[in-house]
Amino acid sequence: MIVSGSTSQALAATLATTLEQPLASVEFDRFPDGELLAAVPDFGADRAIVVASTTSSDAHIELLQLQDAVREAGASEVLTVIPYLGYGRQDAAFESGHPISARAVARAISTGTDQVVTVNPHEPLVCEFFEPEAVAVDAAFALAEPLPADLEQPVFLSPDAGAVGIAETVRDAYGAGEIDYFEKTRHSGTEVEIAPSDVPVAGRDVVVTDDIIATGSTMSEAISVLGERGVGRVYVTCIHPLLARSAYTRLASAGVEAIYGTDTIERAASAVSVAPAVADALEEL
Ligand code: R5P
Repeated sequence: MIVSGSTSQALAATLATTLEQPLASVEFDRFPDGELLAAVPDFGADRAIVVASTTSSDAHIELLQLQDAVREAGASEVLTVIPYLGYGRQDAAFESGHPISARAVARAISTGTDQVVTVNPHEPLVCEFFEPEAVAVDAAFALAEPLPADLEQPVFLSPDAGAVGIAETVRDAYGAGEIDYFEKTRHSGTEVEIAPSDVPVAGRDVVVTDDIIATGSTMSEAISVLGERGVGRVYVTCIHPLLARSAYTRLASAGVEAIYGTDTIERAASAVSVAPAVADALEEL
């Protein structure tokens, strides 16, 4: 039975259809003191697949509660699908005294599950923080689907070297195009500097591809650099369309043709579903 966190209801429903599994009814409540309650009053299955993107601290708590609730309700096997793993980018102690937050949340989640499946974590090494180890699904190929078939001499570009693999996968799924990446220096949570590469983009359509759009600072800088070089159409794609604060309007007003993401985070930009890729991974466990 599929059990959805409040953040992943559309994806959980698609996954239930894809896997031909029932979808549990989940009740979400909040006590007067602010504490959350996620419950599964009618749960009746041996195997639970809990699906929850941990886009906030509340979503983390909800996930832990759902794992516990299904065990209490009699599930003997609990699989946990975390389409978007919050705190995943804090995968190291960046300064003395800092926590490895990805490891801390992975430890908590691990206590309530027999297996973890996540989608395109920022660094695959975060899978090793789980016990049992997590499986990372690569859903980047799905990002080619909404792109127009008539891209002009396309360049699939990642705004930093870390995401070039995603650009390559999207290009391969699209079937044509050049791959390139920019060099990025991050000065703060919202300030980044992009050094362009030598790839000629004048008059060419560019698909900028990243694992996540958070504040949109990285994408905005990349779009600005491309604009100075007489680029053709610009499409922005990512696996996790977090799109915090004014990121969507910031990118839309920068003149991009479209912003596409997957449903690991349910947003207006969620044009494609990772459900088929996650279903394949679950069936292979
Ligand atoms: C960083 O290495 C990631 O791949 C993304 O480029 C970054 O996290 C996006 O964040 P923002 O949208 O806030 O620039």
